[in-house]
Amino acid sequence: MDVKKIFENNQKWVSEKLNIDENYFENLAKGQTPEFLYIGCSDSRVSAEDMMGANPGDIFVHRNIANVVSNLDLSSMSVINYAVKFLKVNHIVVCGHYYCGGVKAAMEPQDLGILNPWLRNIRDVYRIHRAELNSIQDEEAKYKRLVELNVREQCVNVLKAAEVQLAVRERDLQVHGWVFDVSTGKIIDLGLDMDNILSGITEIYKLK
Ligand code: CO
Repeated sequence: MDVKKIFENNQKWVSEKLNIDENYFENLAKGQTPEFLYIGCSDSRVSAEDMMGANPGDIFVHRNIANVVSNLDLSSMSVINYAVKFLKVNHIVVCGHYYCGGVKAAMEPQDLGILNPWLRNIRDVYRIHRAELNSIQDEEAKYKRLVELNVREQCVNVLKAAEVQLAVRERDLQVHGWVFDVSTGKIIDLGLDMDNILSGITEIYKLK
């Protein structure tokens, strides 16, 4: 796939959209009212809109290495704040994926330079869930479980934000933890009980 091909593809896509609705882009330019905030991995195989069957305007998206929600990351904090306070999304999805290179790297003892502080967020997840993870003998199963637990802990981090706590209480904002299985194409809902998770952290993290 070269750059020239991308522009050809774009022209084709524009034509297809206009064939169906000649005002498509005009309407798109009027504004956005997405119901979902999607926080996922930058991995090229995990294409949020494609796998969710979503169209432009449907999903507000934030992606980084291993779908981390760090309170020191101004980018993800701004995205969450804007999505909740101004776009008033009804759902926040944290979506990890099996075979995640970021999670894999965090399981190995190696110095990756500037990636170290980022991947430390995932090492912290490992530490929190060390007993469970160390009880898993099979390396692949352990790797998959860390992907799932990372999603869980990043959902916890989403729930630590004041604007999220307020929106959960006042307008039933929902937080979801999902994993995309690259080997099947399926999205797996981890079925995390967010009410339970939120009440479990309220004593320490309640702001609103
Ligand atoms: Co990944």
